[in-house]
Amino acid sequence: MVAVAILAAGRGTRMKSDLPKVLHRLGGKTLVEWVLGSASAVDVDRRLVIVGYRSELIKQAFAQRDDGNTLEFVEQREQLGTGHAVQQLLSPLHGFEGDLLILNGDVPLLRPLTLKHLLQTHREHQNAATILTAQLPNPKGYGRVFCDDRNVVQQIVEDRDCTAPQRQNCRINAGVYCFRWADLAAVLPKLTADNDQKEYYLTDVVNYLSPVMAVDVEDEQEILGINDRKQLAAAYDILQRRIKDDWMAAGVTLIDPNSITIDDTVVLEADVVVEPQTHLRGTTTIQAGSRIGPGSLIENSRIGKNVTALYSVISDSTVAADTRVGPYAHLRGHVETGTGCRIGNFVELKNTTLGDRTNIAHLSYLGDTTAGNQVNVGAGTITANYDGVKKHRTQIGDRTKTGANSVLVAPITIGEGVNIAAGSTITEDVPNDCLVIARARQVVKPGWQLKTQTNEPT
Ligand code: UD1
Ligand code: CA
Repeated sequence: MVAVAILAAGRGTRMKSDLPKVLHRLGGKTLVEWVLGSASAVDVDRRLVIVGYRSELIKQAFAQRDDGNTLEFVEQREQLGTGHAVQQLLSPLHGFEGDLLILNGDVPLLRPLTLKHLLQTHREHQNAATILTAQLPNPKGYGRVFCDDRNVVQQIVEDRDCTAPQRQNCRINAGVYCFRWADLAAVLPKLTADNDQKEYYLTDVVNYLSPVMAVDVEDEQEILGINDRKQLAAAYDILQRRIKDDWMAAGVTLIDPNSITIDDTVVLEADVVVEPQTHLRGTTTIQAGSRIGPGSLIENSRIGKNVTALYSVISDSTVAADTRVGPYAHLRGHVETGTGCRIGNFVELKNTTLGDRTNIAHLSYLGDTTAGNQVNVGAGTITANYDGVKKHRTQIGDRTKTGANSVLVAPITIGEGVNIAAGSTITEDVPNDCLVIARARQVVKPGWQLKTQTNEPT
């Protein structure tokens, strides 16, 4: 049996935030979600989250997740230290036989395999406790781990409690532990708050347990603890490098990777090209041959094969194969294009469906619209979809051409094969196969002049 417990009750004073530290976001997920994810390679029977500071916010955040109801929340009413936090498990884990993984809620970059390896080592050596450590060139702020030459832990001393010589020790406690629960439960009541912070330190249990073994992490970037905004930014950098290295290894071209950001939830196919200053977020997927950017933001959208999106923003939408988007287009709120469409300069589409090979090349707004195949939306065509109270739909049939500067006042249905004259304001439905003109006829008055003509102020 394995249980995992996440320490997430602290406020995180150094973040200088109203939000509990573990709810700060790192890319697409909160810190505590990352920490939970790092246990994904281990077969876990129970998952407990120790909450305290603004616990209702943490519970809310998990309520929206599919697996939220399998979590057990344990309240730590006063935050008297990491040892005190783990003491709160004594009652919910009473009688639990097995190993307990304890993870600091502010160590988000731990790889699932690292944790799996920690548990394996713990079991092979039949340790009472196994502690993840790292050798850091700059160990400042971390607890120092003192071991004998067989990696058996003697003592862990917090940075602020170290003597000057102790502070020279570069081996640090990552805040990731594996305990034989029965052993830990027996010694938890022995903790005292006899230290600089007057807190109950979980790390002090190593004084009562044996054997306790330290295992060095291979990649020390994994154990970065987030205590302030600067470390949050550093973690984001590390995460981005990881994600981008993985996609490049999988056959994606990133041009100037430093200027690109990609959420870990994004999925790309080989032979996608991402150009500079492009940001891919949320549940976005992009198929082979597409070229995104420079300068584009794609969020929660599905992009088909061989699409280009130049200096454009696409959110919550689906762009089908061979479609060209941009420069400077904005697709939002459930746009769905057909294949081979062209959505050009300064075009905004909202909640709109397009058939195949439909063009909207310049300066248009289509909202709540369904346009068929091979429609040509002339420059400056606007749907007036909002009457101040409700939104209304516009339908445009196959092969219809709207003239430049047409206004389509919704709700309205325009048939197939229609030509709308430039500058028309269409307020009534239009049948198939016709020319429609809805504007005042041009009037020319020969020889007409103003009665008095002066540029002088009067
Ligand atoms: C802790 C370790 C330190 C280690 C470092 C690694 C202790 C005593 N020290 O120090 O050896 O190098 O992590 O990142 O454990 N928390 C609670 N309840 C509390 C106090 C803290 O749930 O009463 C939670 C916090 O929300 C946080 C985690 O425990 O997620 C760690 O707490 P923090 O105060 O950041 O510990 P560090 O000082 O970083
Ligand atoms: Ca910390």
